[in-house]
Amino acid sequence: MRSRTAFLGLLLVAAVVQAGCARMDGTVEAEPEEANAFSYDEAAMPHARPWTLEEFENNPEEFQFAIIGDRTGGANVQGTFALAIGQLNLLQPEFVINVGDIIEGYAEDPAELSAMWEEAEAMIAKLNMPFFFTRGNHDVSFPGGKEAWRERRGPNYYHFVYKDVLFMVLDSEDSPRPEPPPEIRELTKVYKRLQTEDPEAAQRMLAEFMSDDAIVAALGRPVEFPEDQMAWIEKTLREQADVRWTFLFMHEPCWENPSGSFKQIQALLGDRKHTFFAGHLHYYDYDEIDGVEHITLGPAGASWHHDGPGNVDHLAWVTMTDEGPQIANIALKGIFDRKGLDPSLFGAYDRKGPSQ
Ligand SMILES: [Fe+2]
Repeated sequence: MRSRTAFLGLLLVAAVVQAGCARMDGTVEAEPEEANAFSYDEAAMPHARPWTLEEFENNPEEFQFAIIGDRTGGANVQGTFALAIGQLNLLQPEFVINVGDIIEGYAEDPAELSAMWEEAEAMIAKLNMPFFFTRGNHDVSFPGGKEAWRERRGPNYYHFVYKDVLFMVLDSEDSPRPEPPPEIRELTKVYKRLQTEDPEAAQRMLAEFMSDDAIVAALGRPVEFPEDQMAWIEKTLREQADVRWTFLFMHEPCWENPSGSFKQIQALLGDRKHTFFAGHLHYYDYDEIDGVEHITLGPAGASWHHDGPGNVDHLAWVTMTDEGPQIANIALKGIFDRKGLDPSLFGAYDRKGPSQ
């Protein structure tokens, strides 16, 4: 027993020496709690040192996550979304959130719908970190779509807290929406085929589809949130009043043409620190409304709807800091692995816009 006590004492002394600020050999460590994080030979650099600060950006309260936009609504045949999944594994965010439209949907045949989900879930299963889903119109807005979602992905809206930050995933597809043209399934198949056989014809077809009055009206519609979802939003905000930030995700950027219920959501948020993210328009857009950032992501493989600087496949890379979120957008064609850019993959990153 005595020898065991002596051994523990020796361990304690060794630990104290190890955690000290200065070492007998002249090297130093910044602070005991940061032992081993940064050390150098101080004796070799008594004056000038070839660096600036010694305060590293390693606050344990900070974290990073990625947001990925629409895959579908005319998924591109280059498989951009699948490549983006590999890129996320290179970047190593702590988790990933998608803003909806993961499957092409609008499938009446349950077997066809299951195949769509299995294809998408097989891609997502390659991620090394959690992936959070948001419901998009292509995922659920057709007969059988909502039932398939419930079976595979559970609730249509939900929240979680990570490191004292609230994440709320809303469902913008929860109230009735205009029916898409009945031929949408057939058009999607033709569009997919033309992307390979005649890309210019595919672009013309897409431009014609996107200029259809019904499609333009559906894209700009006010989105109402039903009572049960409003009650959950109100309850969640009340119960999570003390978090340091709130992020809200939804498929459609409801602030573009705000409904009565969306204005109510904005009022419920009040002066709480928060940021909105959406997708659906396949075009990056930034709005600051009453001092609050409302961000619409560009696509990650979905068809391009019109030309302009927002016409880019990308990820949003968010770092949660003490002062609020820092947001970097990374174009997918700007990410390549240690072996360099594979020319055979370049087409997937450098797609042409509708009029090019
Ligand atoms: Fe959409």
